[in-house]
Amino acid sequence: MINFKEIIAKEIAKSVNIDEKELESYIEIPKDTNNGDYAFPCFRLAKELKKAPPMIANDIKNNIKIDEDLIEKVEVIGGYLNFYIHQEQMVKEVLQEIAKQEEYGKSEIGKGKNIVIDYSAPNIAKPFHIGHLRSTVIGGALYNIYQYLGYHTIGINHLGDYGTQFGKLIEGYKLWGKEYNVEEDPINELTKIYIRINQLCKEDENVLEQCRMNFKLLEDGDSYCTTIWEKFRNLSLKEFQRVYDLLGSKFDSWNGEAFYSDKMPEVIEILEKTGKLVESQGAKIIDLEDKGINTPCIIQKSNGSTTYATRDLAAILYRARTYDFDKALYVVSYEQTLHFKQVFEVAKLLGIDEKYTNGLQHVLFGMVSLPTGKMSTREGNIVKLEELLKEAIARAKEIIEEKNPDLENKDEVAKKVGVGAVIFNDLSNSRIKDEIFDWNQILNFQGETGPYIQYTYVRTKSVLEKAGYIPKIEEITFKKLLDESSKNTIKLLYNFENTLIQVTQKEEPSILSRYLIELAKAFSNFYNENKILTEDRDVQNARIYLTYAVGNVLKTGAKLLGIEMPNKM
Ligand code: ARG
Repeated sequence: MINFKEIIAKEIAKSVNIDEKELESYIEIPKDTNNGDYAFPCFRLAKELKKAPPMIANDIKNNIKIDEDLIEKVEVIGGYLNFYIHQEQMVKEVLQEIAKQEEYGKSEIGKGKNIVIDYSAPNIAKPFHIGHLRSTVIGGALYNIYQYLGYHTIGINHLGDYGTQFGKLIEGYKLWGKEYNVEEDPINELTKIYIRINQLCKEDENVLEQCRMNFKLLEDGDSYCTTIWEKFRNLSLKEFQRVYDLLGSKFDSWNGEAFYSDKMPEVIEILEKTGKLVESQGAKIIDLEDKGINTPCIIQKSNGSTTYATRDLAAILYRARTYDFDKALYVVSYEQTLHFKQVFEVAKLLGIDEKYTNGLQHVLFGMVSLPTGKMSTREGNIVKLEELLKEAIARAKEIIEEKNPDLENKDEVAKKVGVGAVIFNDLSNSRIKDEIFDWNQILNFQGETGPYIQYTYVRTKSVLEKAGYIPKIEEITFKKLLDESSKNTIKLLYNFENTLIQVTQKEEPSILSRYLIELAKAFSNFYNENKILTEDRDVQNARIYLTYAVGNVLKTGAKLLGIEMPNKM
């Protein structure tokens, strides 16, 4: 598709001694459409050129020669150069591009680059809770979007399947396993065992010591401990899979923490050689004080067992070698900020290429405040995700029963709407913001929600159904779409690919969610202001085509976020 920004930057580059790519990054999109479609601020150049910004703008303008079929006019307003795209050209560009390929906005800009995304990562034998939902949903959206832009993506579920808690679980199971129905309801029952053994550990030092020993035995490959551990892992995974099926989540690798058990000695060896690994109260640590991190990174505990951090270091080494990553993203709650600071700092001592250590990034997200009452369990404020998703589906079904009782496939639609509402809610605000989970808000068909996007899509479908045909692109008279509301919609469609690129620059799927809301609103405006089915065949063809285009982009965008569209609702 024509890249207007690039064309503008190329022209400006004739007058100033700055790289085209950099100039392109200066170009803004004015809030007020009266100020054109693109604006170039000249303020930054004033110092270097020793001239007032408006003068600079005039000088540049006089040097510009752009095809008038592309850019209608260039104006100087204050220190800005404003560019007005030839609107009919814009309409033509966008609609032709949409006609050309099913997957509009898809690109190859990421070709040859490898992106590792570490997301979801629930802990074995513990409930899959609402915090893991955020990681699963944000990570999944990033995965899809990178892939759509041509990157090679590797999605890793770094399961919490190792650590001292397994020493405790093994001990508890050994003591009371028969009293609990672990096979039937693994996570609930294991949680009970875990709470009970923790209590006992508090009362009895010796039991705690035995638990620590168990983990050491597990690490050393003891067959009894390994067998029980495997059982816990398999049973938990089966339970997690039910949630992943509801969400439609997929992973390329399930290598959890345990996978790195035989890969840690090498890490310790490398770190020993740097001379930075020091003894402290029997443990081995790396002091990071001089790096501005006050807490040292513990590599090996005093009883010789390894830590969460050591496993992450082994994972970095492994991922660098196996995937040759350009970026490795860790979609994990902000609570682990210190952990990742430490690990990324120590990773610089592993002797791997700087390319890898520079590519490490903690993609952090805020807390979810829980719905009170019914959803909280006795153990505290852990909400089980499966229950939450099921409740979302049930509530969606209720709304459907009320609004459209004759709808076919109500259950299937309720699943798409309920799950879609939860996913969209998680992605609708910038990820660092804390989120309040409010049923009425997330399922509001009129609000800025998943169901609203789905509802708008369904509306485009019903317009097309009423029309009974989708015209061919050759039958479209582009200048029939030059009214304000059509133009706004077209402009948004034009920005789709750019929106996806922005998501990858900030690791922020909410940029796409906000975009879809804008597009849905623009379409509603267009729909309210224009009669789509009308006497004038040229007008009708053009409007039907725009409707089709909007539906297409809404569907693609939602899919990238992990949300499925119903055809009716
Ligand atoms: N299992 C961890 C938790 O639930 C998250 C793991 C994140 N990934 C990682 N490579 N550390 O807190």
